[in-house]
Amino acid sequence: MEKKTKNTGTPIDCPVRHMAFIMDGNGRWAKKRGMPREYGHKFGAEAFRRVLRRCSQLGMEAVTFYVFSTENWKRPQKEVDSILKLLDQYLDECEEELKKNDIRFIFIGDRSPFSPQIREKIDKIERISAHYTCIVNLALNYGGRSELVHAANQLLKQGKEEITEQDFANALYTSQSPEPDMIVRTGGDLRISNFLLWQAAYAELYFTDKLWPDFQADDVDEAVENFKNRKRRFGGV
Ligand code: FPP
Repeated sequence: MEKKTKNTGTPIDCPVRHMAFIMDGNGRWAKKRGMPREYGHKFGAEAFRRVLRRCSQLGMEAVTFYVFSTENWKRPQKEVDSILKLLDQYLDECEEELKKNDIRFIFIGDRSPFSPQIREKIDKIERISAHYTCIVNLALNYGGRSELVHAANQLLKQGKEEITEQDFANALYTSQSPEPDMIVRTGGDLRISNFLLWQAAYAELYFTDKLWPDFQADDVDEAVENFKNRKRRFGGV
């Protein structure tokens, strides 16, 4: 039987089960317009909405966005506040969008430093979207290394003396998602920046000079097309 998306009913032929995004270039986008960095994040949040919608329409099983890293606290307080405010506003208004597009939000990272207000909203959104299909991991106060340490500590707490790769994968924040097939980074830099270190083992990497606020639904399609031409060997021949 033909597989169809729940939200649009369109047939699924998307070869990318899980796409992950490093959303880079907001600050430069704003600077080019003579505006403060916060302005770039505002338009970055718009790009996030567009891309999320497109990925779910394509029928991807999972999508991951690097929203705020463990290192991003080093930015000026005004900028940190502006990103957290955008997040807070988004949490207030996303419910309808999740329902319409069959999206399940999972917040990955250490949420303990966030305000009780944001933590409550995160918990609520996870709860009310838990039965939807397309998993969207929002990386907040996330770092790949701290995720690995967190997973190791979880396994120690379980009293394990010896572990398998599967045990480790199960202890990661992303245990509910298939491994990313493709990691997309906008903004022209060619690095992984402490993102999905374990999960990236066999991911195809896709770099574009486009700055994140300029990234469109069509650009998602282009990345998917690019993926179709990759020869994945997973270490074989
Ligand atoms: C990297 O660009 C971007 C960030 C650290 C923040 C990403 C946040 C958003 C896209 C807004 C998210 C909002 C919601 C609602 C999820 P940069 O600032 O490092 O850009 P630069 O390299 O040009 O300085």
